Amino acid sequence: MKPNRNRGGVFISVEGPDGAGKTTQLQMLQDKLEEHGLEAVMTREPGGTVIGEQIRKILLDPKFTEMTVICEVLLYSAARAQLVAEVIRPALLSGQVVLCDRFVDSSTVYQGYAGAEDPGRIKEINLWAVGGLLPDRTILLNIDAEAGLDRLRKKRQGPAPAGDRMEQKALAFHRRVQEGFLQLASQEADRFCIIDAAQDLKAVHRSIWEDVRPLLQERALIT
Ligand SMILES: Nc1ncnc2c1ncn2[C@@H]1O[C@H](COP(=O)(O)OP(=O)(O)OP(=O)(O)O)[C@@H](O)[C@H]1O
Ligand SMILES: [Mg+2]
Repeated sequence: MKPNRNRGGVFISVEGPDGAGKTTQLQMLQDKLEEHGLEAVMTREPGGTVIGEQIRKILLDPKFTEMTVICEVLLYSAARAQLVAEVIRPALLSGQVVLCDRFVDSSTVYQGYAGAEDPGRIKEINLWAVGGLLPDRTILLNIDAEAGLDRLRKKRQGPAPAGDRMEQKALAFHRRVQEGFLQLASQEADRFCIIDAAQDLKAVHRSIWEDVRPLLQERALIT
């Protein structure tokens, strides 16, 4: 299935390794949009729907050590299919801005580039799941695996954090995640904007805003 872009609202996703600052920056972006009188729809992946939240519990439960990568791919894409159908597509059709904390690219990278399944096939399955919908813009928060994981450790304020099932994977895996995101961004340079997420919070926010603002102005959503 060929990717397509929505025609109504604006669809923005934020991607990047664990601890890059995605959730923090999305919150800051949402606040900024509110200052401009725009109420954005924020989603979280996996989850964001009643069915998706149930799938999320299975995916992140540390006790499921036997889960295969293919099972992961299908569960993530199932949750995403539901999120697009119930939340994202209706919001875009009604002209709203949708901010998504991770989307298809996370599957391609985590289960593909880092998880050793075929990235092309994962993308294909996901495009089928979401009816070909891809973001208008994807912000890649680029950070070294160690630095991202360090931030998460600090956040929990403990020396030996348990973390969820995805976070417990080895450092080598997280390095492949960072590499994978950069590769994907170079393949789809038009859609991606790479931002140095090692900068301080405000600097990262400014870089995101500089990228997103013209897009919203183009669509006459802000002045
Ligand atoms: N630019 C920054 N400088 C310093 N600390 C930061 C920065 N961005 C985020 N943090 C801190 O790092 C931690 C992780 O941030 P956040 O939860 O936003 O990352 P994330 O990318 O959403 O992580 P995850 O992949 O686990 O969802 C938080 O404690 C946050 O306050
Ligand atoms: Mg987060």
